[in-house]
Amino acid sequence: MAGQAKEPLSIFGAGWVGLVTGSCFAELGHEVVVRDVVPEKIERLRAGELPFFEPGLAELVERNAERLTFTLDAAEAAHASELLFVCVDTPPTYSGDADLSRVWTVIDELPQLDRRGILVMKSTVPVGTGEKVRAALEGRGLSHIGYVSNPEFLAEGHAVDDFMRPDRVVVGAFAEADGDHVSALYSEMDAPTVRADVASAEMIKLAANAFLATRISFINEIANVCEVTGADVEKVAEGVGLDHRLGPHFLRAGVGFGGSCFPKDTNALKQLASNSGYHFQLLSAVIEVNELQKRRVINKLQKYLGRLREKRIALLGLAFKANTDDMREAPSVVLASRLLAEGADVRAYDPVARPGELLRGVSVCESVLEAVRGADAAVIVTDWDEFRSLASSEVRDAMRRPLIIDGRNLLDPEAARAAGFDYEGIGRASSPLAALPETDEPSSVDVPSEAMGQTGSAENAEHFSRE
Ligand code: UDX
Repeated sequence: MAGQAKEPLSIFGAGWVGLVTGSCFAELGHEVVVRDVVPEKIERLRAGELPFFEPGLAELVERNAERLTFTLDAAEAAHASELLFVCVDTPPTYSGDADLSRVWTVIDELPQLDRRGILVMKSTVPVGTGEKVRAALEGRGLSHIGYVSNPEFLAEGHAVDDFMRPDRVVVGAFAEADGDHVSALYSEMDAPTVRADVASAEMIKLAANAFLATRISFINEIANVCEVTGADVEKVAEGVGLDHRLGPHFLRAGVGFGGSCFPKDTNALKQLASNSGYHFQLLSAVIEVNELQKRRVINKLQKYLGRLREKRIALLGLAFKANTDDMREAPSVVLASRLLAEGADVRAYDPVARPGELLRGVSVCESVLEAVRGADAAVIVTDWDEFRSLASSEVRDAMRRPLIIDGRNLLDPEAARAAGFDYEGIGRASSPLAALPETDEPSSVDVPSEAMGQTGSAENAEHFSRE
């Protein structure tokens, strides 16, 4: 896809968004300077190593190595081009607001440019950030630097494709010419461009993520009602999704959404609204439903196994979704800690994600078979393809009790039962229970943690950086 040399670009932030953006623009023929503040990261990138897993990205970086420069020097990046992309992370604070400190650092570190430049905001920021950045630039005598909001809509696992084949490009500018300049970068792409004022562009990103999260919580609640009424959520989603006004996407029931965006951005939007005196009730419910959804697996296990103390539970999948090694806000983390609190012996396996200190107390295994050996239940937490063949005789024979809780509805219930497993999905008919085990000990009530409304532990948040 590489064409003739195009205008050079600078990227601030060599995290996930910055590297995907920079590498894709390099693929489109731009010389790109990527700047980060972490020396080890820059060293590794110069050596051709990526700090995280994203399908197709390593190949892109390798193929475009000559057009990609990595630097620690903010001035070098600022002088390299007119368009300065801000791709730093905006993690949640304890109040649920987005932490913009890295954005302010980029602005503080800008050198005195004696020519025109444009800051292009890719990071997800609260509505009103553009105005504040404009004021900060003026305060620094940099009012000749323009500002454009150009949010990213990249989903982990297919970010390169999302960048190259976007549904739409959103460009919100204070000055028409700046908006034209940024829009032109995407002119080769077969996608509509939404030109907006800066505040609306900022809101489009937050609203899109909040709406997608709402669909997930909605279908999860439908699934929960299906369970008590005998309907099958997979059929329901199929029938609902064929309505052209609704569409089929983001109607997969499961153990709840995680990742670096939905939990953070739904909270940030809720917080943004309440800071302005508006109580965003629907979003509060979406967040609460999601917290409860992660914990419903515990009740499903108890239904078959009674108390979970000393029961061996295999968690299959640690990443928040398939095709990523990202465990930020992953349902697996909540599930593991609830199971440990119940006294279970927790084994875990993921094809790619490596939990490190995040899952203290959990035995991390190297294969599905190792994880399920002697287990009383196997729980599918992430929709990795590898788990679609879980209901095998090998797995059944390895388990102490052949019970599968399918938190992603990956398996065919009938086939799993025919293979000798008790099977329970999300929003699907249950296996008939022969005899419930004695529950001689009250188990803790599954309510959202005190951290609800807060997007996870600081440890979890610091472990990775999306942008
Ligand atoms: C999301 C948005 O899709 C992207 O546009 C935005 O810029 C960043 O946030 P991402 O967090 O990478 O991307 O993952 P996504 O594929 O959207 O999934 C988010 C979570 O929702 C995952 O935990 C996934 O398992 C869950 N999910 C998704 C469901 O539970 N059901 C669905 O139907 C879809």
